[in-house]
Amino acid sequence: MIVKFIDYTRAYGQIKPEIDEAISHCLENGDLIYRADTKTFEESFAKLCGVKHCISTGSCSGAMFISLKALGLGMGHEVITVSHTYVATIDAIVATGALPVLVDIDPRTMNMDPDAFEKAITPWTKAVMPVHLNGRCCDMSRIMDIAVKHNLFVVEDAAQAVGADQHGKKAGTFGNAGCFSFYPAKVLGCYGEGGAVITDDDELASTLYLMRDHGEWPPYIPAPNNNDKKTIYGWGYNTILDNIQAAILNVKLDFLDDAIVRRRLIADKYDEAFFNISALDLPPAPTRWEYFDVYQNYAIRCEDRDGLEKHLTDNGIETIVSWRTPNHKQKGLGMNFNLPETERLSNEVISLPLFPDMTEEEFKYVIGCTRSYFQ
Ligand SMILES: Cc1ncc(COP(=O)(O)O)c(C=O)c1O
Repeated sequence: MIVKFIDYTRAYGQIKPEIDEAISHCLENGDLIYRADTKTFEESFAKLCGVKHCISTGSCSGAMFISLKALGLGMGHEVITVSHTYVATIDAIVATGALPVLVDIDPRTMNMDPDAFEKAITPWTKAVMPVHLNGRCCDMSRIMDIAVKHNLFVVEDAAQAVGADQHGKKAGTFGNAGCFSFYPAKVLGCYGEGGAVITDDDELASTLYLMRDHGEWPPYIPAPNNNDKKTIYGWGYNTILDNIQAAILNVKLDFLDDAIVRRRLIADKYDEAFFNISALDLPPAPTRWEYFDVYQNYAIRCEDRDGLEKHLTDNGIETIVSWRTPNHKQKGLGMNFNLPETERLSNEVISLPLFPDMTEEEFKYVIGCTRSYFQ
């Protein structure tokens, strides 16, 4: 049996008529950039997160870059984040001219260790970027306390955490800005690139609306003869969500709750099946009353990770290792940090297939093959 890490075609098959209709509607009406679907999506996503503003962007990378820029981050500033993240988080900091300062993770949650964050603060630190990895919130209660105490901006990388929360407060809503990715594999994924920033700060939102489109205003006038009515208010960038992707996201929003329920159910099945395998460290299930996890990934730890990976591959199961070489050890990035927990994790972490449309037969097969490796 073959079990893919994620199966895009199956997900499309479930909602084909709605998606086809949404795309044709955009194409037939020439609704390509800054049209009604984009605005509808921004309103719906802001409502879902419980915030005032959603500024859609071309990607989470773009969202993080303009958020940091809009907050005034740049040369001479330090921004603290983790090495155990997709490189985009660190790249966004570097793109502003600020210096990324990478700290270690809590080995149990794989997210930022709040103590390590506090220890890394210097007089030049201006912001922190917690990354809610694998669909689980960082310990935002502690991170926010520290950030407030030291007067730091907080830009959350919530790329993997649509719908996750801590104590009922949603990922992306704790700090000044929360950045999301709608890359196809994400909990809420479109069929290309997409992202958004959310914020409750009216002034920051106004700046972000300008910055995502080279500082020009007004944005919702697509006809060429309206270009002379535009004013450029400052430097920006081009990071815009295509209207077709917004239309797709509007359809997918209707299925988001069900998709999260299904992700959590499959994670439960894995937890139940693996809890007595001492060689495996599972996601931190006992604290679920405090954290609502959406399981972007079912990431586990195993000292014999490479052996388990090979065994699953040999049995037709796709897995992902995020990340085998941590960012601070990537030669091309030229960074030098001492992060023992991150380095240990990079030798042990592996994610099993988990996507909402996975069949019972598939996740039972993954369970069977994983268990058989340890017998
Ligand atoms: C943790 C994290 N941050 C940022 C990103 C970047 O998102 P995007 O591809 O939308 O730029 C990703 C995407 O994989 C991610 O997983």
